[in-house]
Amino acid sequence: MNDLPVVEAIRRKAASLPLPDGWRIVRAPGRVNLIGEHTDYNGLPVMPMALDRAIYAAFRALDEPVVRLVNTDESLPPREFGISQFIEPYAPGDWGNYAKAAVQALASHHSSAQRGFEAVVGGDIPGGAGLSSSSAMVVAMALAFAEVNDLDVRRATLADLLAEGERYVGTQGGGMDQTICLLAEAGTALQIEFLPTRIFPHKLPAGTSVVIANSLVKAEKSADARANYNLRPAECRMACAVLSKALQRSIANLAEFLELFGPDGALSNAFEILGLAPWPAQRLAREMDMSIDILQRTLLTQRDGSALEEPPSGFALGRRVRHVLTEAVRVREAAQALDSSDAAEAGRLMGQSHVSCRDDYQISCPELDALVDILEESGALGARLTGAGFGGCAVALARSSQLSEILKQVSERYYSGWLKRNRPDIFERLPARVEQYLFASASVDGATISAM
Ligand code: GLA
Repeated sequence: MNDLPVVEAIRRKAASLPLPDGWRIVRAPGRVNLIGEHTDYNGLPVMPMALDRAIYAAFRALDEPVVRLVNTDESLPPREFGISQFIEPYAPGDWGNYAKAAVQALASHHSSAQRGFEAVVGGDIPGGAGLSSSSAMVVAMALAFAEVNDLDVRRATLADLLAEGERYVGTQGGGMDQTICLLAEAGTALQIEFLPTRIFPHKLPAGTSVVIANSLVKAEKSADARANYNLRPAECRMACAVLSKALQRSIANLAEFLELFGPDGALSNAFEILGLAPWPAQRLAREMDMSIDILQRTLLTQRDGSALEEPPSGFALGRRVRHVLTEAVRVREAAQALDSSDAAEAGRLMGQSHVSCRDDYQISCPELDALVDILEESGALGARLTGAGFGGCAVALARSSQLSEILKQVSERYYSGWLKRNRPDIFERLPARVEQYLFASASVDGATISAM
C-alpha cells in the first residue's frame, strides 16, 4: 500500500506538520455488496466483499482529549473537536461527522479513553457511490482512537458498536458496512448473518472478476438520499406491526417472521395480510386501531424524533416485505452457488436481486437500470445495483476472460452513449480517469494498522 499515490500524499502532508515522527497508518477498505440489499437492518443476511480501495489515515497520539484532522482533499477543511460521550455534530454532510460518530461511540463505552489523536486522512473510494466510503472513514477513526487509547475491543464487537454509532450522521442503516470493513477476508465474499452477527466467508469462483460501475448519480448518505433510505426501514417496521396485529403474535423484525413461517409460509402470509397495493397512512391507522396522530408519533417517527413524510402513493408494505424475504433466500442460495463454484448461478441470482430492488423495494433509478442492462448485455454473468440505491454503483460478476471486453462496452455504451444522451449534465462532470468510475476490484482483507 505504501506506493499508492494517496498514501504518498498523506505521507507528504504528515511530514510537513510540526513533529513529523511517530505516525502509524490505518487502512479501512470500502466495500461492494454482491447480494443482500436492505436486508441487514431486518436481521437478514448480506454478502459483501472489501475493495482494494480504502480510506487511509496517518495518525499519532496527542496527550490532550482532542481530535485534530486534516484531509489531503483541499476542499475538505481541517477539523478539531474535543472527546466526550456527547459530541455536538457539525452541519449535516460535514466530513468531520464520521470521525465524531466513531469517537463518540467508543468514548461512551470506554469512559477512560481520553487520549486524542491527530490524523492526516485521504482515500481513493469514490464518494456518494454506494461503496461505503463513509463507514470506512468511521472505522479508520475508530481504530486510530482505540489504538492510541490501548483499547482491546474485538473486531466483531467494534463492528456492532460502530453500526449503532454511525446512526449519529442520521442514517438508520444496519451492520453490513462496518462488519465487512473490519472482518473481510481476501479472496472471499463474506456472508454476514445478524442477531447476533456471524460471518461465513465464501471463496469467489476461480476465473471470475467483480466489476464496479458508477452510475454517477450521487447518493450521499448524509444528505438527501438519507430521507429516501430511512423510509425503507420505517416501512419494514410498519409491516411488522401490521403482521403482528393480524397474526396476533409479536413479530419483532422480518428475520423473526421468516424464521417462524419459512420462506413460502412467510411470503403467503405477507401477501394475504399486506397485499401489493400501497397503504395510505389513514388505512394504516385504521388497521392498527390508532388515531392518525398516534400513528405519526409512533410508527412514522424516526429514532432522532423527526417525522417521516408519507409518499404520495402511500407505503408499499407488501412489496417491501416481498423484496426482503426473497432477497434473504437469494443470499443463502448465492452462498451455496459460490461454494460449488457455480459462477453462472451466482450471477443469475444477482440479476434477480436487481429486479426485486427495482420493482419491489423501488431503490433504483433509470441510470442504474440502464447500466445494469448494459453490463449484462456486454457479457456479465449478472449485475445489480449495490449499496443503499437511489444512485451510486452497479456491481457485476463476470468471467475474467470477458473483463476487458465488458469494460470497453460499458465505457462506450453507458458513459459515452446512454449517459451522454440522457444525462448530459452528469456526463459533463465525468471524472478525468476511467478508474474513478469503472473498474474491477480484488477482494481484500479488512482494515489494518501498520507503520508508515
Ligand atoms: C447502506 C447501509 C447498510 C445497508 C445498505 C443496503 O449501505 O449503511 O447498512 O442497509 O445501505 O443494503
